[in-house]
Amino acid sequence: MGTLETPLRRLLPEPGAVTVGELVAGFDPAAAAPADRPRVYTNFALTVDGRATIDGRSGAIGSDADTAMLVGLRMRADAVMIGAGTLRAEGYGALIRDPAKRAQRERQGLDPEPLTVLVSERLAVPWTAPLFTEGTGRVVIFTAAGDEPPATATPVEIVRHPGGVDLDAALRTLRAGHGVRALLCEGGPTLHGALLAAGLVDDLFVTRAPRVAGGPGPGLFSGLEAGVRELDLVWLCESRGELFARYSVR
Ligand SMILES: NC(=O)c1ccc[n+]([C@@H]2O[C@H](COP(=O)([O-])OP(=O)(O)OC[C@H]3O[C@@H](n4cnc5c(N)ncnc54)[C@H](OP(=O)(O)O)[C@@H]3O)[C@@H](O)[C@H]2O)c1
Repeated sequence: MGTLETPLRRLLPEPGAVTVGELVAGFDPAAAAPADRPRVYTNFALTVDGRATIDGRSGAIGSDADTAMLVGLRMRADAVMIGAGTLRAEGYGALIRDPAKRAQRERQGLDPEPLTVLVSERLAVPWTAPLFTEGTGRVVIFTAAGDEPPATATPVEIVRHPGGVDLDAALRTLRAGHGVRALLCEGGPTLHGALLAAGLVDDLFVTRAPRVAGGPGPGLFSGLEAGVRELDLVWLCESRGELFARYSVR
């Protein structure tokens, strides 16, 4: 699970064999970061019918190759941002567990694991999640709520936006105050929609799994108002019928 040696078949731009590690090594979001906020890239797995969940979670959508892609993208991140809905549904713990990968990040001048950034308007946070009890890494929470958090093993910093979380201001704070140049948003659809609506998404990594979920459920975005946004397809890879696309926002 999650090995960067996972082979893929690159279909575009030049057809050929590539590993997940080689593919993500060619993606350097930190180098392309604007001066005032991080470069923001997002990663989602969808079914062919565009569902982001099966039975309320994402785990049954993608394969081991999709997990490898997620880990590869985390390896390029100074910070990983999630919405509270994703934390409540998925649980979350350490972002990079493999000691070899943690060491690799340190050799590249990064922290052993990315900073976790949580967005929760109401501070409706499951404090018993491993993210808070494992004591590895660091967490920054952007919230509109005034509540005090409980004591946690993992250091938590709360940044309050009393009038409602301002994602643009949050990203500026992360860049200026925490040195975050490359930020991976792992969801969910509500946070993804808010980031795109605010013009704050630079790259989208979308896995399309060869299965159909059926029924209702969220897709790539929730709450995104109508309006065409143009994307460029940067690459397309395949593994066992699963498609891995990278788009950049024009
Ligand atoms: N397929 C995939 O790749 C993938 C990826 C991620 C998640 N998911 C799935 O998506 C589902 C969750 O969907 P979701 O849309 O609820 O997830 P979400 O965006 O992670 O969570 C929504 C919650 O996050 C907070 N939030 C999001 N945007 C905010 C903003 N702009 N300002 C302030 N707070 C904000 C709010 O938290 P509060 O309610 O605490 O105020 C909001 O209720 C889960 O079933 C999960 O499994 C799938």
